[in-house]
Amino acid sequence: MTTTITPLIAGNWKMNGLRGSLEELTELAGMLTTGEAPRAVVVVCPPATILHMIASNGATSGILAGGQDCHAAASGAHTGDVSASMLADAGAQYVIVGHSERRADHGETDEQVRAKAEAAIGAGLKPIICVGETEAERDAGRAEAVVAGQLAGSIPDAAEQHEVIVAYEPIWAIGTGRTPSNEDIGQMHNSIRRQLIERFGDKGATMRILYGGSLKPQNAREILQVENVNGGLVGGASLLAKDFYTIISAV
Ligand code: 13P
Repeated sequence: MTTTITPLIAGNWKMNGLRGSLEELTELAGMLTTGEAPRAVVVVCPPATILHMIASNGATSGILAGGQDCHAAASGAHTGDVSASMLADAGAQYVIVGHSERRADHGETDEQVRAKAEAAIGAGLKPIICVGETEAERDAGRAEAVVAGQLAGSIPDAAEQHEVIVAYEPIWAIGTGRTPSNEDIGQMHNSIRRQLIERFGDKGATMRILYGGSLKPQNAREILQVENVNGGLVGGASLLAKDFYTIISAV
C-alpha cells in the first residue's frame, strides 16, 4: 500500500535566505528540468519574506512553496505572526507546523500545533506536522511513546478528509550530522504508520511520513529507501541547489 505514495522532498530553509538566494532555486529548477524527471514532489519552505517570489517566479516552476509556521488564528492582533491564509495568498501550498525549533524556542504545545494544522487546512494548505524525540528520551527507551503522544496531540481529526503530512525529526539528529540507524528509522516510521492507520483507517495508510535530521547527499539514498519513509524534510542541505538536487535524485 505504501509503495503507491509519491515521495515528497521538502527543504526547510529556516531563518536563512534573502532575495538573492532565489538564484539557488533557479539553478535547482534548471537541474530538475534538464535531468531525469524527479520522482518526488519538490517543496521549498523559505522565510516568509521571500515566499511570494518563489511562488510567482516562472523560473522556479516545478518547485512548490511552503511556509515554516503559521498562527492558529486567521487574522487579528498578533504582532509579528503570519496566518495560514497569508501564506496561501503569497502562493504557499504547504506549511510546516510544530517544528522542534518552534516547540523549543516558542514553547509550542501539541495542542497549539494541532490548532495551527487546523488553520492550515482551513486556508487550503497542506500541513507538514513535525514530531520527534530528544536524545535523552531515546536513551531512556521512550522515543516511540513520545512520538506517539505528539502524533495523538498534534494531528487534527480533519486529517481524515484532508492531506496532512507527518515529518519524523529526531531532535538530536537535526543539524548535528548524526542520524539514527536505518533500523531505528524503520522501526519509528512503522510505528507511526500503525498509529495513523489505527486512527484514520485507509487514509492513514496513504499519508506521507517524511524523515528529517541531517539528511544529506551522502545518506539520502539509503534512508529514503527505508520502509514507510515517504520522503524527507531537509534543513542545511536544502540551501545549496546541488546538494538538494542530489537528495531529490536519490528518490
Ligand atoms: P538538518 O537537515 O539541517 O539537520 O535540519 C533538519 C530539519 O530540521 C528540517 O526541518
